[in-house]
Amino acid sequence: MEMTEEKMKTEDGDIVILGIESSCDETAASVVASGCEVLSNVIHSQIPVHTLYGGVVPEIASREHVKRINQVIRKALTDAGKTLQDLTAIAVTAGPGLVGPLLVGVGAAKAIAFASGLPLVGVNHIEGHISANFIEHPDLAPPFICLVASGGHSHIVLMEDYGKYRILGQTRDDAAGEAYDKVARALGLPYPGGPKVDQLAKEGNPDAIPFPRAKIDGSPYDFSFSGLKSAVLNYLNGCEMKNIPVNKADVAASFQKAVVDVLTEHTFRAAEDHGAKTVCLAGGVAANSSLRAAMEAEAEKRGFTYSQPSLIYCTDNGAMIATAGYYAYLNGERSGLSLNAVPNLKIGERA
Ligand code: KG4
Ligand code: ZN
Repeated sequence: MEMTEEKMKTEDGDIVILGIESSCDETAASVVASGCEVLSNVIHSQIPVHTLYGGVVPEIASREHVKRINQVIRKALTDAGKTLQDLTAIAVTAGPGLVGPLLVGVGAAKAIAFASGLPLVGVNHIEGHISANFIEHPDLAPPFICLVASGGHSHIVLMEDYGKYRILGQTRDDAAGEAYDKVARALGLPYPGGPKVDQLAKEGNPDAIPFPRAKIDGSPYDFSFSGLKSAVLNYLNGCEMKNIPVNKADVAASFQKAVVDVLTEHTFRAAEDHGAKTVCLAGGVAANSSLRAAMEAEAEKRGFTYSQPSLIYCTDNGAMIATAGYYAYLNGERSGLSLNAVPNLKIGERA
């Protein structure tokens, strides 16, 4: 879409963005003004559907998004007291994520953009998670270091400027949230296991079982969680074979401490090595009570300015996509109606 065709609303007031998110198991839409004023935030979670299967079933997720997307978008507009005429642009998650679910959001966004003439901005989901920090901290500005830990990703990112990212570290195997979900399953907890392990860990001793903290030679900011996950499974199997009763709360607490130690230590080492002054947290695992407390305490101890989103902006939501879309829009990014879903879209890349 050409800039000249766009409805430019910038002269007569706020930039108002509709953000649409459907990359995994949340159908979400939100209207955000000026990149930080959340006028509505509608999230339809598919968790009850996927819990039956112990994890997200992509085909079922796609169908659920198809069923819900229109009503979620309509509610986001109604809750915000806005019509399409009041919007400046539409932002939508274009990747990374599950291709079927992504296509539902991208298709809906393209249809609305076509019908309304509004500009369309494709957003990277991980950049969306990072941008969640701007919502409640309007003074926050790059450069900063952000730990992004979710069900699909674990990255330490240096956000050098708006739209400019450098990945300093990432997981070599499982994402942190994935490890949480797998350990939860082994403990007999339902999907998604992260919040359940978090809850159970509060009753356990984090020093009860010495689970490993993986270090990767030559890559001090990378992570590996599959060894930790295997250590937990081996511990549980060992107990079963020897007929030793398992204290599940101790397992949850000890596993969680191992994850939080590594995430926190690597993030602050990267921040110090790169001379950063500010550290942020993002992604679904950023909702973890122990990680939030550890990151906040470490930032205070080491003298960093620190930001973490409220819980509602940690797990998948449309507001973070609208906020990322706001900065992309200001940067002149426009996607056009050829926008496609890109399941393995890399951070900093455009669909
Ligand atoms: O960002 P998100 O909503 O979706 C992805 O982009 O992956 O993250 C979902 C992940 C799941 O693995 C879930 O178990 C984890 O975030 N999670 C948590 C907590 N809340 C959600 N992990 C640990 N503690 C929590 N409180
Ligand atoms: Zn996410």
